[in-house]
Amino acid sequence: MMTTVLAASGVWKSYDGRSVVLRDVNLEARAGEAVLIWGANGSGKTTLLSILGGLDIPTKGSVVLGGREIARLKESALAKVRLHDVGFVFQTHNLIDDLTVEENVALPLRLARRPADDRVADLLQTFELVRLAARRPNEISVGEGQRVAVARALANGPKVILADEPTAALDAKGTAAVLVAFELARTSFHAALIVASHDAELPGFSAEVHHLEEGTLRPSG
Ligand SMILES: Nc1ncnc2c1ncn2[C@@H]1O[C@H](COP(=O)(O)OP(=O)(O)O)[C@@H](O)[C@H]1O
Ligand SMILES: [Mg+2]
Repeated sequence: MMTTVLAASGVWKSYDGRSVVLRDVNLEARAGEAVLIWGANGSGKTTLLSILGGLDIPTKGSVVLGGREIARLKESALAKVRLHDVGFVFQTHNLIDDLTVEENVALPLRLARRPADDRVADLLQTFELVRLAARRPNEISVGEGQRVAVARALANGPKVILADEPTAALDAKGTAAVLVAFELARTSFHAALIVASHDAELPGFSAEVHHLEEGTLRPSG
């Protein structure tokens, strides 16, 4: 029996009280589970992931992350949630250019004032980054950068990984490598994985699939 780590219910988001971007979205994710949210550009994927991860707050509705309601937290409390309970992966890796691969992976631990040693070594090993540990982001490929981003997202042992179009900038080989990294995040680190994509399926990625259309989320397939 897997624990529910993330539950969004009745989530609405509108801007200026007029344009409605999310309409009554309901979504649950359990530890070690993979969820794919697919939808066209402008369907609300980034908005939804931002709300699920505490980067933004819903206009209405509830988001329970790790047993705690985050929909109405203040910014300072949300910042802690983002540091400890979720990991983000974006379309491009967003690594810090001046830090090595190892330092990038260790960064969330540093920000949380935690010792880095074993955890970072473990992540570098698992994601086959030992060879690249001393390089800087401009010295590795885009696909490798995304692998570093997944390792970094896991640094503080988050309950959920939120990935916003993580393969959109990659070729087939890069995509396959990132999906392997996600599979490790799920199976070895028991994170729930929520991936947004404009594709209805990602090759070799098995997930519970939902379709987001003009802000309405429905089970798909
Ligand atoms: N800050 C904002 N103010 C007003 N409208 C926004 C804002 N952010 C996003 N939107 C609108 O919300 C809709 C969904 O955007 P987004 O979540 O980025 O979709 P997707 O990631 O699926 O492309 C779009 O119509 C976009 O214009
Ligand atoms: Mg988007």
